[in-house]
Amino acid sequence: MSYENPTKIDPPIDPQHEPLIEARLPVHHGTRTIAIANQKGGVGKTTTAINLATGLAACGQRVLVVDLDPQGNASTGLGVLEYDADVYDVLIGGADLTKVICHSDIPGLDVVPASADLAGAEIELIDIDHREARLSKALAPVLGQYDYILTDCPPALGLLTINALVAADSVLVPLQCEYFALEGMTRLMKSIERIRRAYNEDLNVQGIVLTMHDGRNNLCRSVEAEVREYFGDRVYRTVIPRNVRLSEAPSYGVPALVYDLACAGSQAYARLAAEMLRREGVGPIGEAAE
Ligand SMILES: Nc1ncnc2c1ncn2[C@@H]1O[C@H](COP(=O)(O)OP(=O)(O)O)[C@@H](O)[C@H]1O
Ligand SMILES: [Mg+2]
Repeated sequence: MSYENPTKIDPPIDPQHEPLIEARLPVHHGTRTIAIANQKGGVGKTTTAINLATGLAACGQRVLVVDLDPQGNASTGLGVLEYDADVYDVLIGGADLTKVICHSDIPGLDVVPASADLAGAEIELIDIDHREARLSKALAPVLGQYDYILTDCPPALGLLTINALVAADSVLVPLQCEYFALEGMTRLMKSIERIRRAYNEDLNVQGIVLTMHDGRNNLCRSVEAEVREYFGDRVYRTVIPRNVRLSEAPSYGVPALVYDLACAGSQAYARLAAEMLRREGVGPIGEAAE
């Protein structure tokens, strides 16, 4: 990004990454595992995990949210507060993931919770065999039981996020429309490319979702235009507006779609879920795949 012109953004990807971005997503018929990742904190990963999952479940999809952030905000935001074991026990202790799954109050939406214990996992994983594939292996028994598995990644490109990427079919990147929005995107794309080469050749970019969008803000609109220019149709048409209801809902332990379905943020996440399903040819509203 240039300091002379704050809206000018350097290309976030070099040409070798183009095929990754341009590749069409295959129409899927089984479980689709999506890592919600961006190593920047506070860009809307967890809010997207909670509310996209709820939107997908509302469309009749069976959804599992795997909380991979030691802050556990996806777990608490989905009302999962009490459990005997969590994702730490799965990744480090080798616990059976099926025994750790909690039902949320939303029909069709289950959660593998995380707690502060997970903070130590980045270090503890280093000494474990196949440390990058622990989640992938743990999820194998539940593939087929869910239509979507969404992993809420921590704000880092460490072993937890690597586990999410190795286990994933694709990556959904929430991007906040702000001055340094694309800072770090090159690193994220390179990490995805590396995982693709080494462990998971099918890994793709599901899409980029613009979060905390404010259409009245000139910088926001300029950033959106740049992002759409570089990433083309990988950027969802649906944008998530800045909406205080989205930030209030977690303190009640419910998704915004339950807290206030009519608010602009909830409506946007419902549209995002519908757009995702439409793009994959699973249209709940009978529309053809794009
Ligand atoms: N669209 C939005 N409008 C208003 N506040 C938001 C929105 N998305 C997220 N937030 C708030 O911003 C903060 C960071 O969001 P979060 O989803 O936790 O980001 P991340 O998981 O990337 O760190 C949280 O307090 C959240 O409630
Ligand atoms: Mg988060």
